[in-house]
Amino acid sequence: MPSILFVCLGNICRSPLAEAALRAEAARGALDIEINSAGTGSWHVGNPPDRRAQAVAHNHGIDITGYRARQVIPADFRRFTHIYALDPDNLAGLRRIAPADATAEVRLLMDMVPGREGTGVTDPYYGNEAGFELTWADVSAAAQAIMASLER
Ligand code: 4NP
Repeated sequence: MPSILFVCLGNICRSPLAEAALRAEAARGALDIEINSAGTGSWHVGNPPDRRAQAVAHNHGIDITGYRARQVIPADFRRFTHIYALDPDNLAGLRRIAPADATAEVRLLMDMVPGREGTGVTDPYYGNEAGFELTWADVSAAAQAIMASLER
């Protein structure tokens, strides 16, 4: 059974939106899989998603107000089969803390989207609302690609 973890820096902007996008795709496909998100950093642990991320999710019919930020932990590398980093820095952070007995496949999220391999999902935190719609577009494309890979 696949289980999927999305990881960004703060777990309040990009990875909660990726979690929401894949939850929506999985629900559409009636696929019952574990989906979660976390951050490499600890600053926002316990906090709800950024208001702008909540607003963008709401625009797309999804309620993420109940999500709470957490930091990625070594056990995540065994609990999940796939861990997707939102950008190359997050990927480097994951590789630094991966335990020796990790079983998860750890890779860059946008590697799932043809033509976007090697790229990161831009951090919208210091930008405006429009940046969060760009984030949504990226994580939605990736969620669709992940669903397609799971259904194969
Ligand atoms: P995220 O965005 O990694 O997409 O959740 C950020 C949120 C907070 C910070 C940086 C990025 N921060 O530095 O507090």
